Amino acid sequence: MKRTIFFILVDSLLTMAAFLLGLMLRFEFNAIDYFLRAMLPVILAGMVIRPMIFYLAGIYKRVWRYATTRDFFHLALAVVVGSIFIAIVAFALYPRYVYTLPRSLLGIEMALSLIFLGGLRVVIHQVEKYPGDIAWRRVKLDPARKVLIVGAGSAGVQMLRELNTNPQLGLKAVGFVDDDERKKGQRILGIPVFGPIINLPAIARQQGANAVIIAIPSAPQQTIQNIKSLCHEAQLPYSTMPPLSSFLKDEEAPPTMLAKLPMSLPDITGEEIEAVVRVMQSRNLSIGSQTMAFEKYAASVADAEHAVAVINGTAALHLCMVAAGVGEGDEVITSTFSFVSSANCALYERAKPVFVDIDPVSLNLDPNRIEEAITERTKVILPVHIFGQPADMDPILEIAERHGLVVVEDACEAIGAEYKGRRVGALGKAGAFAFYPNKQMTTGEGAVLVTNDEHWADLFRSLRNQGRDVFDGWLNHSRLGYNYRISEMNAAVGVVQIRRLDTLLRMRAEVAEQYSKRLAEIQGVEPLTIVPTTTRMSWFVYPVRFAEGIDRNVVLDKLLQRGIPARPYFTPIHLQPFYRERFGYKEGDYPHAEAAGRSILALPFYGSMKAEEVQVVCENLAEVLREL
Ligand SMILES: Cc1ncc(COP(=O)(O)O)c(C=O)c1O
Repeated sequence: MKRTIFFILVDSLLTMAAFLLGLMLRFEFNAIDYFLRAMLPVILAGMVIRPMIFYLAGIYKRVWRYATTRDFFHLALAVVVGSIFIAIVAFALYPRYVYTLPRSLLGIEMALSLIFLGGLRVVIHQVEKYPGDIAWRRVKLDPARKVLIVGAGSAGVQMLRELNTNPQLGLKAVGFVDDDERKKGQRILGIPVFGPIINLPAIARQQGANAVIIAIPSAPQQTIQNIKSLCHEAQLPYSTMPPLSSFLKDEEAPPTMLAKLPMSLPDITGEEIEAVVRVMQSRNLSIGSQTMAFEKYAASVADAEHAVAVINGTAALHLCMVAAGVGEGDEVITSTFSFVSSANCALYERAKPVFVDIDPVSLNLDPNRIEEAITERTKVILPVHIFGQPADMDPILEIAERHGLVVVEDACEAIGAEYKGRRVGALGKAGAFAFYPNKQMTTGEGAVLVTNDEHWADLFRSLRNQGRDVFDGWLNHSRLGYNYRISEMNAAVGVVQIRRLDTLLRMRAEVAEQYSKRLAEIQGVEPLTIVPTTTRMSWFVYPVRFAEGIDRNVVLDKLLQRGIPARPYFTPIHLQPFYRERFGYKEGDYPHAEAAGRSILALPFYGSMKAEEVQVVCENLAEVLREL
């Protein structure tokens, strides 16, 4: 809406400019005042009429970045129609004035409006950036792959247009190849046509092409097969525009056509790609400005004083154990209903993870069971904010305070989540957010530690950097450290993603909302309960829980057979083979976590998930449950 208002204003001002310039040209810059006063009502009418006609003609609804000749033709038509209306108003107004109407002025104004308003759209068409666009010129790179388009017909030309308007595809056409003798040697949209197709390998070599797009959807299968053989011969990867008939077939296909529906999908735009390219150009690939910027943003997301970026969430939790002084024989209380890192971090320091069962509703550590697990060897309580829902932190912090224990938050799944209006991460002594590609935001691999304790922050920086202290030299190591540094490329992606975090979380919340609405109509399946202490959910995955008597694993198999991906979450840590073997855990030890582990399934979930995709997943799920 803002954009439309802006364009209405600009069009109105350009119409005024066209009138003024028209007056200047018409009267050779003489007596302009005089005519300006006389023409003022007409000019004002023009400033209203022209944008109004544009509005009615749908000019403001067009995406000028992708405009075609047809759009420009409609624009010209709207200018002409506008001028006719302005003329009618002018003639209607004029009898009230003594002056004769300078009629040619209306024609001059129309021509100038065509130039001004059309020119504005031409400029937008050329330069406007959209999210996802990469400014290849700015990053001083050529799109990586040069392609030959086989077929200089309408499909091929359409493909070329697509490549030209979508530079983020990373493809640049270097030529067409076509059997039509008449086209050979000509240029289409500036791209040369070579031929015949049989010479494809030689043409590709000459033009330095490293991929082929076969754009002759109407060709017989045999012809396509022959072209593919030529690509094989030239060792060139190829892709084929599907024949029209296949689209028609797809329309009747059952929902299983969404076999390629991903389980999760990182939201990567041209901005992240550009950011990585810029790091590469800077030649500063580790411990640089991007890491520092990323840490600044991360600290502010958690309302924390300090943030230290590391290479993954597991490393981050490990550093918390080291900083807390956890050692051989010490105990770390955590949730068994979590990813294995939540407990492994204690094992790295030869401490013992001590599990506490979960609250069956929030699926987080049950504070009421913590005290019975505390011994004199307990050093740390490590609550996990599972699936992006904060654990009940106030009683946990209170218990820790009473027993002199350190609280470390495993917030790897919960960046941006809020507990009673407070951001998670640094509610205790320190916490970790992780950024694997299935997370709410990603850095590829990566994590950030947040804390309000300056000493811990310094320690984290030293530990991640082989134990060097800030003022240590190149090969001076003050303590046993690790190489847990994040690279500048990862951090650069993180900077862009964390600046987009609110949008990313909002998109995920909207998808979650669609899921819960649809699931409400399906019997036997429940979405995750959002407990009252959760004032902001940071949706990591979308877990659902099945009613007693429904075998989650059968549902999972049946969904997979239908091409709908899904994942069981979690086998409780104490039941992992390695933990059973080492600590003798068995089924029945933590009944709530085990029940959750048996009945929870995560459905495909990502911020850019479309409503139709949610619908297909839910329809399939409903059918599977009916079949059972
Ligand atoms: C709860 C939890 N803790 C720790 C981690 C470990 O993070 P990373 O995979 O970055 O090592 C994860 C990762 O998925 C997690 O979900």
